[in-house]
Amino acid sequence: MILITGATGTNGQEIVKQLAEQGVTVRAMVRNLAKGEPLKAFNVELVEGDFSNPASLDAALKGVDKALMLPPIAPNAVELQRNFIEAAKRAGTAYIVKFSAIGADPNSPMRLGRWHGDAEQLLADSGIAYCTLRPNGFMQNFFAFAPLIANQGLFAQPGGQSSISHIDVRDISEAIVQTLLNETVHAGKAYTLTGPESLSFDQVAANFSQVLGHTVQYIDQAPEEFKANMLAWGQPEWLADTFNEMFALYRTGWGAEVTEDFTTITGHAPRSFEQFIQDNRQAFMPEAAPAAV
Ligand SMILES: NC(=O)c1ccc[n+]([C@@H]2O[C@H](COP(=O)([O-])OP(=O)(O)OC[C@H]3O[C@@H](n4cnc5c(N)ncnc54)[C@H](OP(=O)(O)O)[C@@H]3O)[C@@H](O)[C@H]2O)c1
Repeated sequence: MILITGATGTNGQEIVKQLAEQGVTVRAMVRNLAKGEPLKAFNVELVEGDFSNPASLDAALKGVDKALMLPPIAPNAVELQRNFIEAAKRAGTAYIVKFSAIGADPNSPMRLGRWHGDAEQLLADSGIAYCTLRPNGFMQNFFAFAPLIANQGLFAQPGGQSSISHIDVRDISEAIVQTLLNETVHAGKAYTLTGPESLSFDQVAANFSQVLGHTVQYIDQAPEEFKANMLAWGQPEWLADTFNEMFALYRTGWGAEVTEDFTTITGHAPRSFEQFIQDNRQAFMPEAAPAAV
């Protein structure tokens, strides 16, 4: 049995869907069974579980030989993953695929990198076979700007002139599925997953303009303004600071790396940003104007 955690999230839903398309039945761990209900369309077994509740993890991991450990972004992310790894040891789980992030390192200058790096270390020390996937920023993050892009032709990020090799969640999920299903090939490996090209935010905006047929502009936002906006949207201060730390690193050129790891795993190239926009064009288009009288 394969256990998928984070199953209601952006990647988790896509991973469950792709596994179902391959005829693989999985158990999906969700915090709230009602929220997980739509996953039943993919013929999954739903189990209630929370990374902060070890007893629930014991129940979720019963009879599981492989698991995807997909942690949330949280200040206690290391503790949550420690709980999961300890429960997997108790359950006798043989293989774990860890969803990590580009730049994961216990000595990273940003907390996100340290949280993932420390958890990778715990997994390495656990004696359980594992594979680590470290994606760069998701193209799907831009859905957060869809109304702005559609109606005002702009999006704002504190990204300066940085270039980033964003990757499509559909591709990350394909790599996750491959590494889950083929542990003899992938156990012991760590992969950094990127898109096929590194684009500045101005280039991303130009891609949107070209595919949508209306001008889209990138606004280089000051970190303080970014933080103020996040707080105004009701997001916690630690999260705004976490993202600002990440963007500060991006502005040094840190996210521009393009790797071949996705192609090594899947045998084909990842999707371009342009392809992502084309496939999701409707989400970024202005609502139809009222008919002229
Ligand atoms: N965004 C990026 O560009 C990016 C880039 C690289 C790596 N990452 C990494 O991607 C991961 C997030 O992936 P995602 O965006 O696909 O997830 P997501 O959409 O943010 O969803 C988070 C998932 O985790 C579940 N969850 C939250 N707290 C939990 C807990 N205490 N116990 C069990 N499950 C819990 C959520 O369940 P509920 O539905 O119940 O809330 C949800 O299914 C993070 O580790 C992040 O560092 C992100």
